[in-house]
Amino acid sequence: MDAAALQPAAEALRRARHVALLTGAGISAESGVPTFRDAQTGLWARYRPEELATPEAFARDPKLVWQWYAWRRELVAKAQPNAGHHALVTLAAKLAQFTLIPQNVDHLHEEAGSKNILKLHGSLFANIREEDHEPVASEDMSDDVPPHCVRTGQRIRPGVVWFGESLPQDVLAAAMQAARRCDVFLSIGTSTVVEPAASLPFMALQSGATVIEINPDATPLSAHCQHVLRGKAAEVLPALVAAAFPES
Ligand code: OAD
Repeated sequence: MDAAALQPAAEALRRARHVALLTGAGISAESGVPTFRDAQTGLWARYRPEELATPEAFARDPKLVWQWYAWRRELVAKAQPNAGHHALVTLAAKLAQFTLIPQNVDHLHEEAGSKNILKLHGSLFANIREEDHEPVASEDMSDDVPPHCVRTGQRIRPGVVWFGESLPQDVLAAAMQAARRCDVFLSIGTSTVVEPAASLPFMALQSGATVIEINPDATPLSAHCQHVLRGKAAEVLPALVAAAFPES
């Protein structure tokens, strides 16, 4: 990590009133949850996303899609929040306003203790009915694969946003408002390619916010933001929060 780059970013954070943060798969990497687009180990390495994470894929092969999500749930259920997730809880306590916008469908921000989270892409641990997208309680789920809702007969699917689907409109509107109103926007561990999430840091830039990226690799955002901190979220975030608020 570049220590010289840390200080100006920490200074921007120390002066901020409202900080908004977009997080992606990279923040959970140190918790043992694979990212999506790593060519060797990424979650999409064996399949193309369209074969698993679309409504059409579920219609074509519901068992395959359900089982892939069941495998991911098992993987994530064993994972623990890392120092990056914990640093964000410390940071939130220092600020007047803090808007956390995760793309991840895991529960590691919640496990660490973050509150008021705008989960853009839903949750791996939610189950919804295929036709009306209403949540289903586990006692209303049949035992087949994929299960059915015993009240309505509808097939049940994971409560996540798939490619080609709209994000929950109220959640997206709140995230866009935060991006436009914050003083500092942090983009952490995301490839910044999946819309509409990828536009949030650019909205923040257009509205005059200071944008900080934390990622070991370059992304389409890197050339545009004021501060780029190259490194792992689990290492950079604790260092950044400690530099901004040494008394914490
Ligand atoms: P990706 O897998 O596309 O990108 C992960 C990013 O994390 C890359 O830019 C890596 O360089 C970076 N990274 C890897 N290890 C890291 C670490 N230890 N610390 C910090 N950064 C690290 O994941 P996302 O950008 O989150 O959507 O993907 C966005 C969306 O695409 C996901 O939410 C998912 C997927 O399709 C849906 O499922 C709707």
